[in-house]
Amino acid sequence: MRIIVSMGRGGTGKTSFVALMTKYLIQGGGTPILLIDADPDQSLGDFLGVDLYAEGKKTISELLIETFLESGGTTVGVPPWDRIEWKIWESGLYEGENFDLVAIGPKWVEGCYCLPNAALKRAIEHLVKPYRNVIVDSPAGLEHLNRRITSTVDTIFDVIDPSKKSLDHVMRAYRIVREVKINFRRFYVVGGYRFPERLEPLVKERTGLEYLGKISFDRTVEEYTLSGKSLLEIPDSSPAYQSVKEIVDRAGLLRN
Ligand SMILES: Nc1ncnc2c1ncn2[C@@H]1O[C@H](COP(=O)(O)OP(=O)(O)O)[C@@H](O)[C@H]1O
Ligand SMILES: [Mg+2]
Repeated sequence: MRIIVSMGRGGTGKTSFVALMTKYLIQGGGTPILLIDADPDQSLGDFLGVDLYAEGKKTISELLIETFLESGGTTVGVPPWDRIEWKIWESGLYEGENFDLVAIGPKWVEGCYCLPNAALKRAIEHLVKPYRNVIVDSPAGLEHLNRRITSTVDTIFDVIDPSKKSLDHVMRAYRIVREVKINFRRFYVVGGYRFPERLEPLVKERTGLEYLGKISFDRTVEEYTLSGKSLLEIPDSSPAYQSVKEIVDRAGLLRN
């Protein structure tokens, strides 16, 4: 089991990157795959043609509220992580043919809900066990990841945009990952589809981090996401898909 995280600022192309990486891992035998949508905007399902709500699935936020903030004492004696894990299996997890998917949902009521957070983290530790690849679609800043999901990650992809400050953002992201004590094996920078090629040499030079390439701009991706078609069905010849394959190969994700 290996946890892969795709992170970056909104609009950089993280979610489409996750969807196209999923397509490649399915084709390359990297299954079973669990996808965790940790972005409050919850677009991963849409990009894969799955409507979690229509499937009767609840977000983890909803399940946590049901379990810890609303429910009475009917499950006294069952440890909290057990209760939430069981709920996720029962009514949070979408089980598809090629991948499973669960959404964390909007931020639940802020405050120190240490018990739910700790319980969720422990439940997720169990939940991920049967999978070969677990991919997390995450917003920028990984504090939430360590608090609620996991502190051990194999590979982090930071998808960057073309803003003037993008290199500063990369450095900050890298620092935060370490500050919040996420143990990771590899941290890669990936150019988002709007990242200009001329800035590529600067990434390595200025950040010292490994740059794996750029996701190609591709009208088909735009069309698919606008019309709600699954990116898993994008033609293999799609430039964006081809570029994601190269990035995933450079990261060695299908090799080991
Ligand atoms: N490779 C691409 N080529 C062209 N447009 C893209 C590409 N990737 C994403 N987009 C467009 O950009 C929008 C934002 O991408 P998305 O993956 O949702 O970014 P993020 O998850 O970082 O917010 C998508 O709705 C899509 O229309
Ligand atoms: Mg997204």
